[in-house]
Amino acid sequence: MPEIIRTVADIRALTKTWRLQCLKVGLVATMGALHKGHLSLINHATSECDKVIVSIFVNPKQFSAREDLETYPRNEEQDLTALETFGVSIAYAPPVKEIYGEDFATRIEVGHLTECMCGITRPGFFSGVATVVAKLLNQCEPDRAYFGEKDYQQLLVIRQLVKDLNIPSEIVGCPIIRDENGLALSSRNTYLNDQQRQVAAALFRTLQEAASNLVEGADCREVEKWAANTLKIAGFDDVEYVDIRDGLTLEKTNDINGSKKSARIFGAATLNSTRLIDNVPVEVNAKF
Ligand code: PAJ
Repeated sequence: MPEIIRTVADIRALTKTWRLQCLKVGLVATMGALHKGHLSLINHATSECDKVIVSIFVNPKQFSAREDLETYPRNEEQDLTALETFGVSIAYAPPVKEIYGEDFATRIEVGHLTECMCGITRPGFFSGVATVVAKLLNQCEPDRAYFGEKDYQQLLVIRQLVKDLNIPSEIVGCPIIRDENGLALSSRNTYLNDQQRQVAAALFRTLQEAASNLVEGADCREVEKWAANTLKIAGFDDVEYVDIRDGLTLEKTNDINGSKKSARIFGAATLNSTRLIDNVPVEVNAKF
């Protein structure tokens, strides 16, 4: 079983000894309920770093009052067993009071990138993520920290945060891992039954088809409308957004053949109150 560390003092002491030995340290930050998406981040980390810390912390500050903080899947024992099979030696799993003391009073707000998509539909979410990620990076001081493109907007927000606050960790983005139907793996997929999983797979299929329509010259706004409608017909209860945006700045894209050629199509939709997000690049048809 991996060693479990619960306090900031202990993780600091450990990483200090590693740094004195000039070992390269990697961090994979998670909220637990580990799956193969998390595993792929861990694999990237172990292939590039001498020591890998996997943090498991369900961060209350990134859940709004109407979201699933109470029911979010938690199973530390199962996660530790998974980490053992992944060959991870250190799990950093602090209790909430270790991360947020009673007098905790700071929130980090990242501008621009948080003013669209999940930043609008989940007020306070990115501020909660930025705050906890800044803390985890300060506590673990990794040379590299690994984040998934599944949460693409989150990845860009974290890159901006690290740049703006001069945090000396390199942020590494890792590709999306999907199930055999194309559904992006997510801890929240455990809320779905088999039939809902079939419907959920339409999110990736639709974004992929939208991407190829764009490559063939379809109008961006028309494609967004078509994709949102297609998701409703497929059985999603609500489509929060389907947006075609620049993959670096998140500005709305009108012309995918524009100079930057980094357009992506992003989607968020709910199915029986389970919220799913996904994204695909426009210029290359995603394969899985
Ligand atoms: P969580 O949802 O547990 O995800 C942890 C990391 O795994 C994130 O970087 C996420 O993008 C990545 N990930 C999840 N599913 C993936 C998939 N199918 N393919 C590739 N990567 C995937 O994201 C969070 O936790 C939290 O917001 C966190 C960053 C830990 C801050 O609390």
